[in-house]
Amino acid sequence: MNKFFATTPIYYVNDIPHIGHTYTTVAADVITRYWKQKGYDARLLTGTDEHGTKIAEAAKKHGKEPKEYADEISEEFKKAWKKLNINYDRFIRTTDEDHIKVAQKFLQKLYDKGAIDPKPRLYKGMYCVGHEKFMSPEELVNGLCPDHQTKPVEHSEENYYFRLSSYQERLEHLINSDEIRIRPKSRKNEILGKLKQGLADISISRANLEWGIPLPFDKKHTSYVWIEALINYYTYGSQNNLWPADLHLVGKDILWFHAVIWPAMLLAIDEELPKEIFAHGFFTINGQKMSKTLGNVIKPEDLVNKYGVDGTRYVLLTAFPFGEDGDFSWDVLDRLYNANLANGLGNLVARVAKLCEQNAIIASEGSNVWCAGLEEKLAEYKFNEAIAIIWELITEADKKINKEKPWESKGEKLEAVLNDLVKRIQAIGYNLQPFLPQTSEKILKQFSGKIKSATALFPRI
Ligand code: MSP
Repeated sequence: MNKFFATTPIYYVNDIPHIGHTYTTVAADVITRYWKQKGYDARLLTGTDEHGTKIAEAAKKHGKEPKEYADEISEEFKKAWKKLNINYDRFIRTTDEDHIKVAQKFLQKLYDKGAIDPKPRLYKGMYCVGHEKFMSPEELVNGLCPDHQTKPVEHSEENYYFRLSSYQERLEHLINSDEIRIRPKSRKNEILGKLKQGLADISISRANLEWGIPLPFDKKHTSYVWIEALINYYTYGSQNNLWPADLHLVGKDILWFHAVIWPAMLLAIDEELPKEIFAHGFFTINGQKMSKTLGNVIKPEDLVNKYGVDGTRYVLLTAFPFGEDGDFSWDVLDRLYNANLANGLGNLVARVAKLCEQNAIIASEGSNVWCAGLEEKLAEYKFNEAIAIIWELITEADKKINKEKPWESKGEKLEAVLNDLVKRIQAIGYNLQPFLPQTSEKILKQFSGKIKSATALFPRI
């Protein structure tokens, strides 16, 4: 059986899940469901990133031990994904025993292969805890990290170095030739442009941070959090015969780690490389950056309480194109929900079900085919365009009803019109499956055998 192995980033447990995490995870779930529906052994890996300064500090602020705090927050992520009907195959935590073992083996291999300098040496830099990364002077604005508005911490300690610089040419070639497919293309070009400027070796250890995985070749140091976090994909993939990953889905802010540092680490130990890395854009909320200080952070349950599970999945994927930056506002989401779900899809299904019930229509088996063009759109992660193709079926069916006026017709002619509408609705149900799984199931159930009216799929808001 062919496999498809997709991953989401693993999320920091410094705080509870928000719409940013939800966005990436819903998209990854849709893709994995699609491949499953095509008969692939498709797997989705998600989880939490639990080591490092950021988590240690958040735990301390709450008067808790890091592991205790991580236990609580990772539970919140699991709850959120359950609520959103995310069908993941493993929820990995970087504090899981098996991950720690695989990460240490990986690090040892890097060391044995000479990809890590044999001895630590002084590393100096400005470290942004929010990003868990060193920032170059050019990235800072008035001495502050522009994303977190905080002054990075001056860091000066003995660290082990990963020889990232030795992979520059190979990476350029692999990315240029699409052996590692980076999409959208604009992001691929950005990465290539940055690669051309040259690569410096990077620090991969911490001397003064206990909350991390000890380096197997020098237990006085712990692994830099990003290095072991990236290995999470390999922990699950290698143990389940799934490596290499077919898709790493990430936000554009963390593309560099996935497109450059991670492949270099894999090249260093002669492992296979991920096939594709897709970076989605960043969104604002009502035109403003989402932040706790502004108090505009949207939680997954805020969305589910308003739009339901499938309604949430729908509005997230259709508000703006997936690879691009965009904006979420409650007004736009409400409009999308009412116009396309309550009115468009919900109305059509209710109308046809009622007509079928009144005329005792028995549905015959539906055909399971994808709408023309939908698969091509999904291959490019153009969720909104893929969904728009399904909505054309809805518009067509509405037109057919208005033209044929089944309420004025009877006998064989009426039966033929209704049977045709049933077929259309079954096709809509089949195609909706990866996007709106619960709705799809309801529709396919309602339109099998004897058709009956049911409660509205999407109540108006
Ligand atoms: N722990 C790292 C990832 C390690 S993967 C080996 C991390 N975690 S995170 O909790 O910060 O999760 C970030 C994810 O949420 C990213 O994919 C990021 O792009 C996404 N988003 C967070 N805020 C977002 C927006 N405002 N807009 C779009 N996506 C956003 O990074």
